[in-house]
Amino acid sequence: MTAEPVLQVKNIHKAFGDRKILEGVSFDVYAGEMLGLIGPSGCGKSTLLKIICGLLAPDQGEVIRRSDDIGLVFQGSALLNSLSVRNNLALALDGRNLTKKEEDKIIREKLELVELSDFMYASPTRLSGGQQKRTSFARAIVNDPKIILYDEPTTGLDPVMSTVIEDYMIVLSHQLSAASIVVTHQFSTWTRTTNRVVLMFEGKIVWQGTPEEGVKSDNPFMQQFATGSREGPMLTAKI
Ligand SMILES: Nc1ncnc2c1ncn2[C@@H]1O[C@H](COP(=O)(O)OP(=O)(O)OP(=O)(O)O)[C@@H](O)[C@H]1O
Ligand SMILES: [Mg+2]
Repeated sequence: MTAEPVLQVKNIHKAFGDRKILEGVSFDVYAGEMLGLIGPSGCGKSTLLKIICGLLAPDQGEVIRRSDDIGLVFQGSALLNSLSVRNNLALALDGRNLTKKEEDKIIREKLELVELSDFMYASPTRLSGGQQKRTSFARAIVNDPKIILYDEPTTGLDPVMSTVIEDYMIVLSHQLSAASIVVTHQFSTWTRTTNRVVLMFEGKIVWQGTPEEGVKSDNPFMQQFATGSREGPMLTAKI
């Protein structure tokens, strides 16, 4: 790990109308580190990712990014149905002045990693939900980014494909020395891939630690989240 974090999230506040969603969220992410962002549905995880990558502006606070190479795996796959799988990935390569042959090589390589090279020229409408998810994963990493933001990368995948994606997230984080954030509800994903987990509730961080500490924690928020219990301090969550 380098001394300087690749990504610094400082005291982020965000409201939609008079509904406060984020109320002072701060953390740092270092090169090669995978931070898990967990919390009940609607607590602002996707909103925070959008602020981190610059799609949304915070009302208060700042995000310091020490790299502009960012890959984003959206919660919905966000593929363009009018383009082939190949061209969905090629969009992300725009501006690099590559020949078609060079583009094809990179795209095929990334699609092979998610076992979809047979679908290179297919329309995304022909893909299952899980295949679309894997395509959006391949698109996010096509430029070997230094910051990777994953919004529910394994939701809707079968358990074996979830493991494949989780393993690849781990490999990428090492290979690219990327600073990654993964938003997930899937237990296997945050326990297997992350170095550190941040639990959000009502706009604030209520617990953080390693996944090993999270599983054993007697913090009432973390305990409720890790066990999925209906009883606990998050009972009032809007879920
Ligand atoms: N553009 C927007 N305008 C108004 N409200 C919004 C907007 N985007 C999100 N919200 C609201 O902000 C809250 C947080 O949404 P967000 O998508 O960040 O939740 P989340 O933690 O990602 O939930 P989930 O786990 O279900 O994906 C929700 O109540 C949502 O309705
Ligand atoms: Mg979300």
